[in-house]
Amino acid sequence: MFRSVSITGFVACLATMALHFIISKPKADELFGKDRSMRILDPLRWLVLFLTLLFVEQKWNLVGALRKLVFLLALLCFVVLVVTGFVPPLILGKAISGWWLVIHATFAPVFAACVAVLAVMWADNNRFDKNYWPWLNRVLARQPQSTEMPARHEFRQKICFWVIIFLALPVILSAVLSMFPLFGTHGQELLLELHRYSTLLLALFSIVWLYLMAMTEMQKNAAS
Ligand code: HEM
Repeated sequence: MFRSVSITGFVACLATMALHFIISKPKADELFGKDRSMRILDPLRWLVLFLTLLFVEQKWNLVGALRKLVFLLALLCFVVLVVTGFVPPLILGKAISGWWLVIHATFAPVFAACVAVLAVMWADNNRFDKNYWPWLNRVLARQPQSTEMPARHEFRQKICFWVIIFLALPVILSAVLSMFPLFGTHGQELLLELHRYSTLLLALFSIVWLYLMAMTEMQKNAAS
């Protein structure tokens, strides 16, 4: 069950993002210039641009540098945890064990610490302070704190950010609690299922969040 649900989730998520990218990506001429040669390399140009956009903008002070470092470390841990967590059950058809589990359990606490630090450092940037849904603000008689127009994917990005921070709790607690002899066999099985499905949701929302972040930067570049 976990295998088919995960495969469906990843395929549906990646297919939706690919479709959204084809429909809403900026024109290649705007980003790479009309007079570029070897247009056949455009797909490679897009991939490289996408990956470089994951290296978030950095403010030139200590906090800015620290924030970027923690983000890149969290991204590295996330990739390692997704690969070591999902490849055994989804591709190899077996439960995580051996080196997969050792590497997984090694990167896990680093990931947990990075998520906690990023939650504090980025909470202010992810406040719902703009007029995202004017009709809702009217219904709630709420005055948005900022009159600035929200960027295109800003609202969805902020939703994903808070969902990821929220999901990190069951992801971490389910794994850590399973390490203590507190629950019987049935409890351990429940904790593993909770860990599996909460990590699946965390992985999907994180992929969407990274995609929206790269698209926002890409559209900013195209507009400038
Ligand atoms: C603090 C964070 C984490 C800790 C301590 C942790 C620890 C563990 C442990 C001990 C297992 C093996 C459970 C067992 O077989 O009984 C496991 C399984 C798994 N973990 Fe994590 N993990 C963490 C974060 C993550 C994250 C962030 C992901 C992916 C986004 C992930 C994906 C998975 C998956 C998919 C499995 C199930 C593998 C299977 O079905 O055999 N984990 N994790």
